[in-house]
Amino acid sequence: MANIKIPKSWEVQKIKPVDEKIYVNRRKIIKQLGLMTGGLLAGSFLSGCEKEPRVIPTPPVVTPPPLPVGDKTFTFEGMNNLYPATLNPKYELDRTLSLESDVLRYNNFYEFIPAKELNNEARYDAYKYVSDFDNRDWKIQVTGLANKTGFFDLGDIIQSIGLEERTYRHRCVERWSMAVPWTGFPLSKLIQFFEPDNKATHIRTVSKANPATMIGVREMDWFPWAYFEGLRMEEAMNELAFVATGLYGKPLAKQNGAPIRLVIPWKYGYKSPKSIIKIEFLDAEPETFWHQIAPDEYSFLSNVDPTTPHPAWSQELETKIINGDIVPTLPYNGYGEYVANLYK
Ligand code: MTE
Repeated sequence: MANIKIPKSWEVQKIKPVDEKIYVNRRKIIKQLGLMTGGLLAGSFLSGCEKEPRVIPTPPVVTPPPLPVGDKTFTFEGMNNLYPATLNPKYELDRTLSLESDVLRYNNFYEFIPAKELNNEARYDAYKYVSDFDNRDWKIQVTGLANKTGFFDLGDIIQSIGLEERTYRHRCVERWSMAVPWTGFPLSKLIQFFEPDNKATHIRTVSKANPATMIGVREMDWFPWAYFEGLRMEEAMNELAFVATGLYGKPLAKQNGAPIRLVIPWKYGYKSPKSIIKIEFLDAEPETFWHQIAPDEYSFLSNVDPTTPHPAWSQELETKIINGDIVPTLPYNGYGEYVANLYK
């Protein structure tokens, strides 16, 4: 921690988890707008706190790279029999699922961004830099106020809890959104597995940060690695809070947080940490990665809230990653019936 350089406000503008550039599947949007010959693209590029889409010049249409294959190196005996898991129909979506190729190719995973790409659209290309990352034989360390602490084998946990599939909306503070079929299990089951003490009021997670295999960790030493996040215990125990080990009926791809990540669908995406190696049970609210970097911009709760703009971006609208549709953002990302009571 001694070497941490907390950026000045002008630097923070460059390193927040979102740029004003959002994912644009330009080919689809252009087609949708009937502007195949180019010219102007009225699109999903919103600036500052603008409420309406702005007209921007059409960038050249590029041929997409081949589909990054979902990683399957995390193995234990019988793992393949667990995928695809049975869909839990309770969390039916109001929208079309995003394309698997989009979910695999368009990511926020700072550990896998080269420093030179931080301010470019290429910073979404984590899939290009994950090949050396080893997600086999994964252990999770549990510490703090719980009966069962120590190191636990992820394979044992998965086999003991079992898997289900859920489709959730996924909303980034950048104002892009997806609809994703995750495979995993409720976070409440994982927490119960470790038998926390009644005094535990919060959990804190720590993600893997290996400079040898993660180019972002190696090159961007001004970030306070490893990525750390937290939840109140009642949030973590809410039925929606999910631990994902797979997506699209397969084990998680590395760029999506293999082999284990959280999915907290009523919060902005940065509250869903990837590649978790440690869970701590605490009796106080922990600091979080983005809050430490920019406390005025990333609150501990960070629930999706269309009425509270981020200092740089309004949150009223979002662009759906499948067809570029711009739609209103819903309070709690549309999950108010499940979670609003947590915040009375
Ligand atoms: N977890 C880690 N360890 N590192 C990250 O950079 N980015 C967060 C979150 N979890 C991030 C992370 C952000 S900003 C978002 S929007 C989601 O992951 C993106 O998840 P996805 O790439 O699977 O869509």
